[in-house]
Amino acid sequence: MSALTAFKNLVHQRCGLHLEGLAEARLDRAVASLQATTRLTDTTQLLTHLTSDPALFDHFVSQLTVNETYFYREPDALNWLVNTYLPERLAAGAAALSIFSAGCSSGEEPYSVAMLLAERFGEHAKALFTIAGGDVDQQILAKARQGLYSGMAFRALPPTLKERYFSPDGQYFKVNESLRQWVSFRTLNLLDTDESSVGGPFDVILFRNVSIYFDEQTRRRIQQTLRQLLAPNGILLCGITETLGNDLGVFELVHAQEIFYFQPREQATERADDQPPPPLAALATGSDAESDIKNDIKNDKHVASFTARTGVPPATLAEKQSEKQVEEQPEEQLEEQPERATAEGFSQQLLNAHQLLNQNAFADAAALLHSLLEQRPWSIDALVLAGLVARWQQQPQLAYDYFKRAIYTAPECWPAHFYLAELYRQGELADEPAQRQRGYAAVVRLLAAAPTASGGLDTIEPPLPPGDARFLAERYLAAVNTMPVSPSTTQGVG
Ligand SMILES: C[S@@+](CC[C@H](N)C(=O)[O-])C[C@H]1O[C@@H](n2cnc3c(N)ncnc32)[C@H](O)[C@@H]1O
Repeated sequence: MSALTAFKNLVHQRCGLHLEGLAEARLDRAVASLQATTRLTDTTQLLTHLTSDPALFDHFVSQLTVNETYFYREPDALNWLVNTYLPERLAAGAAALSIFSAGCSSGEEPYSVAMLLAERFGEHAKALFTIAGGDVDQQILAKARQGLYSGMAFRALPPTLKERYFSPDGQYFKVNESLRQWVSFRTLNLLDTDESSVGGPFDVILFRNVSIYFDEQTRRRIQQTLRQLLAPNGILLCGITETLGNDLGVFELVHAQEIFYFQPREQATERADDQPPPPLAALATGSDAESDIKNDIKNDKHVASFTARTGVPPATLAEKQSEKQVEEQPEEQLEEQPERATAEGFSQQLLNAHQLLNQNAFADAAALLHSLLEQRPWSIDALVLAGLVARWQQQPQLAYDYFKRAIYTAPECWPAHFYLAELYRQGELADEPAQRQRGYAAVVRLLAAAPTASGGLDTIEPPLPPGDARFLAERYLAAVNTMPVSPSTTQGVG
């Protein structure tokens, strides 16, 4: 048994995390950091320390969890919960209802529920609902309690809600005190929990985007626990891509108004619309993503619409050439063309645009990127940023055009492949399973060949770390077989 296997087994046994494949790289780093902290290299001694020192173990686990989350994620389910399910439960006589986010990460999910409830029920909301979140990761729970967030966390939240429930705090935004006091956070290990340790029973348990990190046996075990934590008539909501993977016989899968949820078997039929779940996504394998995209662009399928939407004509190879020549001109000549940024100036502008994006100043970011793309229509950094800005401005078709152009220019641009696939997965564009899969497959292939590749970006950092992108792409590819099709389902921008 390798040294790594012993740590893997310990984490799997205690927290359920399945640390295979790409997650092994995280484990490697966590073990190296453990060795540095303890100044020990012997595996047996390290394991003894880990198992006898809870703080050390917590710190170790913090490095292994994936905490990706954001406000208003998968909003269809949240809106259904707040505007349909909970009002119906109240109308049926419930006096007060409790909601629990199991695997809440930094708190965006329970705070999103709190905001929506406050919107719907006003000053009565706090009397009607208790909201709590739990997570195994102590460091992320501290962040949730603090309630301080940066721009990325707000990428899917309607700006009016951000304005109403957050106030600027330096570079960050702080959740308002009323919400912070309302939502409570607690330690939760889904593999080692009972009502007395987490509170409950709960009327609603959100278990979204957590189960993908567990194998089937562990998921089944966790479901038994969650069933014990559910109040009579309670429901369990999983993430969209996880739902059928959690249909393991412990709960009954119910489909109502395009939302899937679970109920303990005996109560399952009472609320459903009696609609059978829609068929599984039709799987199609296709040709290589990059060559398809190149062909599309060569055939001018997207060029006209790109130009119409952006006002930026696609550059010809001749223009590319002249752009390169400008870069090679001596400085005096560049000074004669003040409208052309120097290479350094251009990079700085890209960094400014990235910063504007992170501050959610989308209109300013879009204007700056527009001018940068006029100067260099083939800048990968500018195209990827422009795609993200368009996405956050709810212009998915425009985002699609930018990402496609980035891939055309640099087929190795894994961020563009990733976000293109996300446009489909998250329902911002009508789903095309084959295209979505090709996008994720390209990410996996590119990052398997070069795990820390920049994806052709030469100035900005990739918008998400390459390790996370590959990890998520692998998961989404694996989840394809178990994903219910819900044509009207839209999710937040991820
Ligand atoms: C990707 S986040 C999901 C956050 C949120 N539910 C959402 O949908 O955006 C997954 C969270 O599950 C937590 N987690 C992993 N294993 C856990 C366990 N055994 N018990 C409780 N939480 C766990 C991780 O620490 C991480 O914060």
